[in-house]
Amino acid sequence: MQMTWNQALSVGDELIDSQHRAFFDEVNAVVSALASGAPRQQVQRFHSDFIIGLARHFRDEELLLARVNYPDFDHHQAEHRALMASVTALAEILACADTHTELLMVVRNTVTALVEHMALEDMRYRRYVSGSRAESW
Ligand SMILES: [Fe+2]
Ligand SMILES: [Fe+2]
Repeated sequence: MQMTWNQALSVGDELIDSQHRAFFDEVNAVVSALASGAPRQQVQRFHSDFIIGLARHFRDEELLLARVNYPDFDHHQAEHRALMASVTALAEILACADTHTELLMVVRNTVTALVEHMALEDMRYRRYVSGSRAESW
């Protein structure tokens, strides 16, 4: 389960793209660590770092969306809140996960939630980002 970021996922903003790419790298790192038998504590550390990165990313992305006057801003922000709540809730499962399978499931859930958001929601705003750039030229 290795994930590769590709240009098709670009939203046209350097900071946001680099944050999205960094999530892929982090996820791949934890998946490899798990494959070589990483303990629960390591996955917990990944999870809490991931939440910090996610909070920063959502803040930066919402700043961008506000800047380009994204018409569906409220919906997008609500999606961020829901995603953050579900990713945060995984901490409880993680706290009592003992088997490799359980740990992998938590990582997989985290990844799926994020990738779905990127592929469905983040892709919806990219034409506003490139549109705003074209206007400023
Ligand atoms: Fe995003
Ligand atoms: Fe987003």
